[in-house]
Amino acid sequence: MASKLLLVVGAVVVFGLFSIINGFWTNISKARKTGLPYIVVPCSPYNGYWQLSHKIWVFLIRLLPKSMWEGWLFVLLPDWGYNTGQEHFKRLGDSFLVAGAGSLIFMTQSPAAIHEIASRREHFPKATEHYSILEMFGRNILTTEGSVWRFHRKATSASFNEKNAAHTFSEAIHQAQGMVAKWNETARSDSPTITTIEKDTMTLALNIIGYVGFGLRLTWPGESVPEDTDPRMLKYGSQAPPPGHSMTFANSVELVLHHIIMLLLTPTPLLRFLSLFMKSARAAYEANDNYVRYMREFLDDKIAVAKEDAERGQCSGDGGMDLMGQLVRGRYDSEENKAKSTIEKKTAEISNGSATAAKTDSILTDDEIIGNAFIMMVAGHETTANSLHFALLELANNPASQRALQTDIDRLLGRDSDPTTWDYEASINGMLASMLGAAINETLRLMPPVVNIPKWVTPTGDQTLALQETGQTHVLPAGMDIVLSAITVQRHPKYWPMVKPDSDADLDAYAPERWFKKESEKKNAAADAAPSEIVGADTEDYGGFSGPDTSAQLFRPVRGSFVAFSDGPRSCLGRRIALVEMLAALAVLFQRYSIELAVDDWATDKEVAAMDDTARHALYGKAQKRSRQTLRSATTILTLKLHGAASVPVRLVPRGQERFVHCVDV
Ligand code: HEM
Ligand SMILES: *[C@@H]1O[C@H](CO)[C@@H](O)[C@H](O)[C@H]1NC(C)=O
Ligand SMILES: *[C@@H]1O[C@H](CO)[C@@H](O)[C@H](O)[C@H]1NC(C)=O
Ligand SMILES: *[C@@H]1O[C@H](CO)[C@@H](O)[C@H](O)[C@H]1NC(C)=O
Repeated sequence: MASKLLLVVGAVVVFGLFSIINGFWTNISKARKTGLPYIVVPCSPYNGYWQLSHKIWVFLIRLLPKSMWEGWLFVLLPDWGYNTGQEHFKRLGDSFLVAGAGSLIFMTQSPAAIHEIASRREHFPKATEHYSILEMFGRNILTTEGSVWRFHRKATSASFNEKNAAHTFSEAIHQAQGMVAKWNETARSDSPTITTIEKDTMTLALNIIGYVGFGLRLTWPGESVPEDTDPRMLKYGSQAPPPGHSMTFANSVELVLHHIIMLLLTPTPLLRFLSLFMKSARAAYEANDNYVRYMREFLDDKIAVAKEDAERGQCSGDGGMDLMGQLVRGRYDSEENKAKSTIEKKTAEISNGSATAAKTDSILTDDEIIGNAFIMMVAGHETTANSLHFALLELANNPASQRALQTDIDRLLGRDSDPTTWDYEASINGMLASMLGAAINETLRLMPPVVNIPKWVTPTGDQTLALQETGQTHVLPAGMDIVLSAITVQRHPKYWPMVKPDSDADLDAYAPERWFKKESEKKNAAADAAPSEIVGADTEDYGGFSGPDTSAQLFRPVRGSFVAFSDGPRSCLGRRIALVEMLAALAVLFQRYSIELAVDDWATDKEVAAMDDTARHALYGKAQKRSRQTLRSATTILTLKLHGAASVPVRLVPRGQERFVHCVDV
């Protein structure tokens, strides 16, 4: 009996080993057939067990002679592109494969390949499996592909127009004033150092996304609600939990996003059980419960508004951007015209001759509306908040750039003007083309929130790809994974101008001035293929801002070398909104104030007051060094950001009263 059992177990083990080894060889031989350089790994970097336990394995592997692991171990480490930069690409080339058991991945930092892959959407779809967990509140634009995605994109993109960008600009100015007022208060208190910059930029981004997604006017503590607010919307913006809820709407969103990984991985009944004795589970459960109920109520309120509007034959929802309101209105209007649309749908199905045309009208179900509203918050909250957070820190690290930014603000908007009078249409292009735009672009170049953009080769067939770097054409096998390495192509020495050509680390350093260097333009023109020249490119208009990436007078990155918002039909729908929001926030803040690194760890305010410029310079150098080290420690969970206790303390000082930024130049 025992020996029989042993035999069975043995057979299972042998079979398991066999399939692993077989898979390993299958993938390696596929890799070899492409003719691309490849490295061999024992497991996939995507493997969940590996991700959970990699620290132990890495420790053990590193005990072996270096020659056994130095060629491949890097690729299994999280955020390797952020941490090792060009190092491995220099050795392997701009495009290489990672092959092994459960792993066959094409990694590239070739701008031409990135641009082409992103453009040929049907050949290289988005690898939505990496996002499927974000469907917890319903299918949505970010997590789907093919006809379902087209349908979501068409339904949501209508809201992302210039009129709404202008509304968002005013709201962002107002919100930034709220944040600055809070910091101003801290600056005047007994402990003037600001340690909440990350939290406050998150609140800022949340308040703005509340406006973009739901038409809400959220407030900062102590602020009053705008008078023209629809009374039905008051409860969502209130600073205290309204009846029937145990937390405010903003809190529920904030906490759902904060605990998102736990919420995604734990089924609700289990979470409810865990919440009896685990504090974080309780917070997550409660936030989720509140959030879901807010969403249902929201939908009902929006439907009521849409119905009233329809009865009155006019639309009250013109006060600004309100994605959810617009989706609801879309559905309500079309319920009116149901008969008509059913006929149209039938006709479309027949003329297309396929089942994919079944959902041609932009009518989303309740769940789909809620799913898309949620995904706007996931996509637009942490990304924007952190980009702004990092931009503020980098401007504090680089006083000369900060001063140049302020000079541009004075020139474009006036040093004493009232920000609430700034006009979107008149100012936006100038702002984008100034140090304001450059400060943001440079932040997104160095610290893109999405460091790797996942695609794959369509499972329906192999795809050919010509690589400009080698002049060779390769066949990428059906189903192969692809990683577009945003973080490293944005530091690629071949495509980016230097500001300090003698420094090895120039492209790893923050220098917004880079965006005004025109030297490498000619070199770039050749690689700048329009999407229509790419065979198989998906050139349909899926909405979102489609204007040029950069103005003609400025440095224009080669297409595919600046992909913080991705590229092609699946690029960021909120790009314009995000830029507008960050421009407004920087302009409001730096018009009146400067941001300086706090030096409390080295000197008291009294000691600083007694220092001459040379001593201040040396002191600030210590704070800059530490701040840069802290930024280096950023990691990705959802996006690239500082996690855990890592943070950089700063001071807000009125312009003219700087202690450092006026006299420090490096
Ligand atoms: C600095 C801020 C932002 C950055 C860096 C950013 C970056 C990105 C990137 C890289 C993608 C493509 C992801 C992929 O293919 O895997 C994306 C998609 C998307 N983003 Fe953003 N984003 C930002 C802000 C926003 C904002 C504010 C919104 C909404 C208001 C938004 C809405 C979306 C949506 C809806 C998609 C999915 C588009 C589609 O698949 O068709 N993003 N974003
Ligand atoms: C080859 O790699 C892919 C991932 O790219 C994986 O899904 C597949 O299981 C691997 N093939 C084999 C036979 O192991
Ligand atoms: C900063 O606070 C002071 C005193 O509370 C106030 O006089 C000043 O106007 C504030 N500045 C801004 C821009 O909020
Ligand atoms: C920054 O990028 C935006 C588009 O992403 C562009 O419109 C703007 O001109 C750029 N600004 C500078 C100074 O390069």
